[in-house]
Amino acid sequence: MQRALNLLLQNMSEKNATLLTHSLNVAKLCTIIARNLGMDEEYYYTAGLLHDAGKLLVPNALLDKSISIGNEEQEILKNHSKWGAELLKLLGLNEFSVIALLHHQDTSDLPLPVQIVAVADKFEAMTSLWRQYKKPVTAKEAIDELWNMRIFHPTVIEALAIAQAEFLTEKKTC
Ligand SMILES: [Fe+2]
Ligand SMILES: [Fe+2]
Repeated sequence: MQRALNLLLQNMSEKNATLLTHSLNVAKLCTIIARNLGMDEEYYYTAGLLHDAGKLLVPNALLDKSISIGNEEQEILKNHSKWGAELLKLLGLNEFSVIALLHHQDTSDLPLPVQIVAVADKFEAMTSLWRQYKKPVTAKEAIDELWNMRIFHPTVIEALAIAQAEFLTEKKTC
């Protein structure tokens, strides 16, 4: 598993700095959420890191687009969930493929591991500058938006709210 993981990480860092930063931030948020919920930190770190593995197959020109993307491009981008799940299976990382496949599904019946990674992913995207086509929102606004979606379990959103505050503190003291 470590070999496949290193290979993906190396590819991510060579392909796109934003993808790497986003994935690392999601991984750290997932780890803190898992720690606070008494779950397997290492599993969630890896799950966060690999949730967007399918973006390795999306052209950089599309990942780095600074304006709103068109319908056709959106379809290509959407495929990263499916491609990621397939790629992870091919590399023997099956235990993370469901998360990659479902992390953009906005339904209320998502398994808990998918919910954890999905809230961390959405929060990171909403509050970060890298999403150049949309202005970042504050942490509070992002958390409010996640509540308003009515698809995530309250425990998961509350755990994210605590985790993001801890993550910010950790960042400042580094
Ligand atoms: Fe994604
Ligand atoms: Fe993501």
